[in-house]
Amino acid sequence: MGSLSYVLSVAVLAALVTGGACIAKVPPGPNITTKYDTRWLPAKATWYGKATGAGPKDNGGACGIKDVNLPPYLGMTACGNIPIFKDGKGCGSCYEVKCQKPVPCADKPITIFVTDKNYEPIAPYHFDLSGHAFGLMALPGKDQALRSVGELELQFRRVRCKYPPGTKITFHVEKGSNPNYLAILVKFVSDDGDIVQVDIQEKQSPAWKPMTQSWGAVWRWDGAIPIKGPFSLRLTSESGKKLVAQDVIPAAWKADTVYPSNIQF
Ligand SMILES: *[C@@H]1O[C@H](CO)[C@@H](O)[C@H](O)[C@H]1NC(C)=O
Repeated sequence: MGSLSYVLSVAVLAALVTGGACIAKVPPGPNITTKYDTRWLPAKATWYGKATGAGPKDNGGACGIKDVNLPPYLGMTACGNIPIFKDGKGCGSCYEVKCQKPVPCADKPITIFVTDKNYEPIAPYHFDLSGHAFGLMALPGKDQALRSVGELELQFRRVRCKYPPGTKITFHVEKGSNPNYLAILVKFVSDDGDIVQVDIQEKQSPAWKPMTQSWGAVWRWDGAIPIKGPFSLRLTSESGKKLVAQDVIPAAWKADTVYPSNIQF
């Protein structure tokens, strides 16, 4: 038997056994954009990691944003499925989420940042929240009771991201970067929260070179001719606004180093 017909007959058998439920992957809902309308949409929520923190994905996840248990994220994070994570272009975007039932639900919105991808969606929209954020959707003192529920119906809507006053967009030159391969993580982006294009400019040249989205919130420039700092970075947010961080990466830049900017959307 060919492997395809084998797979098919296993699928048919499984469909017979389960009555067809749960066989088809859940199709994703349409991408969530920056329309910021006020309608709440339905989703499913689960949680992962430690009850009190962001859990084992503290160190990066599919967006590459580390230490999400620390300020400014403070564990208010979630993995989003395809229409929320958007191949990493949704990294850093913000959502209000709330639950109305079962009983421990407070029906009061909390705001989370998308910092990871949900690979096993159980609904067209599925947020896998940090244990901490999930618990905060409960009535006071009922966070553990709500976490015990494990999976629930959620309501959500896209909102503009707000960081504590004074928080600026921050760049991390990733480990392994060199003058022929420069990879930069972009974080702490207000408003849309997510970035759809990054361009780089050497101080010695007026030309802006487009960077490529490497993965998650990491943007990469590579080329045969070594690139020379200082560099400016031009960011385009999801709704098309542009900002330039002038000379934000110095001539003597180093890999695995944070470079804060003085810009914010
Ligand atoms: C949804 O977003 C992804 C990632 O940005 C993109 O590749 C895809 O084309 C979008 N789908 C639609 C229907 O716009």
